[in-house]
Amino acid sequence: MILHTNASNCAILFLRSQMLLVGKNPLPTELFYLEEYLIAQIENVSSKEILLNINKYLDLFLADGVIHFKKLFATTKEQWDITCAIGEHFGFLPNLTLKEEMRPPFYCVENEDHKNTFNRHLSGPTNISRKKSIFIEWHMENIHQDNPQIAASWNMIKFKCDPSSGTTGFVNMAKIFSIIPEEWISFLKKIKIKSTTHTDNTGTILFLDDHSSGTERPIIQKHYKTNVPVVRMGFYPNENLLSSVDGLDPSEEDIFLFKQIEGYISEEVLNNSDIQHWISWDEGDLVLVDLFTMAHAVRGGFSLGERIFSRVWCYQQEPFN
Ligand SMILES: [Fe+2]
Repeated sequence: MILHTNASNCAILFLRSQMLLVGKNPLPTELFYLEEYLIAQIENVSSKEILLNINKYLDLFLADGVIHFKKLFATTKEQWDITCAIGEHFGFLPNLTLKEEMRPPFYCVENEDHKNTFNRHLSGPTNISRKKSIFIEWHMENIHQDNPQIAASWNMIKFKCDPSSGTTGFVNMAKIFSIIPEEWISFLKKIKIKSTTHTDNTGTILFLDDHSSGTERPIIQKHYKTNVPVVRMGFYPNENLLSSVDGLDPSEEDIFLFKQIEGYISEEVLNNSDIQHWISWDEGDLVLVDLFTMAHAVRGGFSLGERIFSRVWCYQQEPFN
């Protein structure tokens, strides 16, 4: 992990991210694969400094998919302002045109304690008291919806648990696209999928019996700002239904090939620790995440009420699925 403690270090990482964006490798070859998946971690900055230098952080956000500000201790107002500044530059909501009173509940949850997820685990077999076990499964945010969240800010306002618990993992799905075998790419570009699993607004996972009603969408979608291709899919078993190939019903061979590719990608995301990046939280940390690009998961080891964050969601102005 690269830790920025001053402006010059930040400039170095900024340069690294820019070089990665244009495909130039500033690092020794043997390190490139691992380094490419690192996420910017920044400390000793203030919310005011972030707002004054927002362009620098926008570039980092696009390059790494996540920015982790350590111990920023932003107020919820400052968090809102930083998120709106990003929305203003990238053309999504919220942005500077929104009034404060529009915050909850659509854009903002100020006391997310994951109560619904705890309730879900109470009826299941998982042992979420263990800090290495998965608390929130790997997912991309509400990809089944017409206009899902494409970014968020997470502000850890309370973190009173074991410091190594409740970690959040990320996998960059644009970088996953870049490691997919070439012979599969042309097929992926032709297909559309549906989700067989939905999440309702309480966080409850719904497994749908009727697969005909879901929204059909490309599995490869261009990033709203960079145009970089991103693999956007789910990771629950049988969550992705191949619905069309070049606009036609899929053949048995298409379905077989799709299952093969889906299995390969899921295996990479869920089990390849080289491409996962896990962040540890402190109270006062603020994370900005590009949810269009980043698959993510949360590990357990904390109890209800010990870990609470304020969250602002970001949406495109028009549905894109
Ligand atoms: Fe999520």
